[in-house]
Amino acid sequence: MNVKVDQYVDLKPHNTMGISCFARYLTRVTSEQQLSEVLLWAKAENLPVCPLGEGSNVVFSGDYEGLVILVAITGCETTESNGRVLVKAGAGENWHGFVRWALDQGLYGIENLSLIPGCVGAAPIQNIGAYGVEIKDVFHSLQAMDVTTGEVISLDADACQFGYRDSVFKGELRDRYVITSVTLSLSKVFESCLGYGHLQKEVLQEAGDQPVTGQLVSDVICRIRNAKLPSPEHLGNAGSFFKNPVICDGHYKELLKTEPDIVLFPAGNGRWKLAAGWVIEHCGFKGVVRESGAGVYKHQALVLVNHGSADGQAILALAEEIQQAVRERFGVLLEREPRVY
Ligand code: FAD
Ligand code: EPU
Repeated sequence: MNVKVDQYVDLKPHNTMGISCFARYLTRVTSEQQLSEVLLWAKAENLPVCPLGEGSNVVFSGDYEGLVILVAITGCETTESNGRVLVKAGAGENWHGFVRWALDQGLYGIENLSLIPGCVGAAPIQNIGAYGVEIKDVFHSLQAMDVTTGEVISLDADACQFGYRDSVFKGELRDRYVITSVTLSLSKVFESCLGYGHLQKEVLQEAGDQPVTGQLVSDVICRIRNAKLPSPEHLGNAGSFFKNPVICDGHYKELLKTEPDIVLFPAGNGRWKLAAGWVIEHCGFKGVVRESGAGVYKHQALVLVNHGSADGQAILALAEEIQQAVRERFGVLLEREPRVY
């Protein structure tokens, strides 16, 4: 095989939680050819494979006894189609770098997703979303390689079955494909989407008497995110540790009787999205630090953090403690967002 595979590699630099554990094998691929070679090798060795981008949505509960593949296939190509611009980006492109590149080209639709850590290839896995936009809103298609046959397929938005922090890659196709590229359909015309929280107010304030541009929206979102979320270089974390639970109208009315200040947002079809951060805060977890080094971020209770020494088990133990407290007080099940290995 022409691709280098290392053994017993510490995964600490490869997960933003900063968990130290070992991968039995680790490799980095920069082309489909290399990917197909390492997949063949893993199959022959009967090893499970774990494709990784920047490790910003994973928790390693212990050593990984398989092959970790850092997907570093890069490059961007654009074509025009029906007044939109299709941009095909390699799975290994850094997501935020890609957003800023698109803005520099005068291409819009993903500015609200600025500063989400990770790579392009991971973005469809959980249908990344922020500030009122999800990748599904501009998604065209993706290419992915079957881990057992090496066959490359193309999937459109319907086939990806996108939902809130969800896609077919978390269900039926879990662990079956490595995404090699993602194609988005972007617009040459900027249309702002400022309905989330206080975004509009902050953007208009920043703009003053200047027009609102895609770059300005991106800058404001970066500022808000930097103020709210811990930077993984300084404090290990994987962003929101739980999804915001969606509950039915009956449950909502029941909760209001005892929790009149509870924060919820309409989720369509008479359902409500509960602010998990509020719920966790009101169970008394905001800012806690356990002896293990696992903790809850002091400015955002939905973010679990690693103060340095926590391993995956310690993070998961704290997550379970939170889930239990929330279930007991609110009758709500918090579903983990990052993938646990
Ligand atoms: P990884 O963590 O490397 O992988 C995540 C999962 O995808 C794993 O199961 C992995 O096997 C799989 N995977 C990765 N690459 C591929 C591939 N090429 N083919 C097949 N499978 C693959 N998410 C949001 O949606 N919105 C946010 O606002 C947001 N904010 C965040 C803020 C912070 C500070 C952090 C740390 C995380 C945040 N996240 C957010 C979560 C995370 O950034 C996204 O889920 C991101 O898409 C993960 O990218 P990654 O490259 O790091 O994926
Ligand atoms: N809140 C609290 N206490 C907290 C945190 C939040 O009361 O400690 C309440 C606030 O009232 C706030 C509401 O929760 O109004 C919502 O908070 P925020 O706007 O910070 O968003 P979130 O629901 O906590 C979600 C996503 C984020 C995304 C932001 C912005 C999920 C699971 N999380 O967070 O995504 O960046 O909205 O759109 O949907 C991620 O997925 O990793 C992630 C960071």
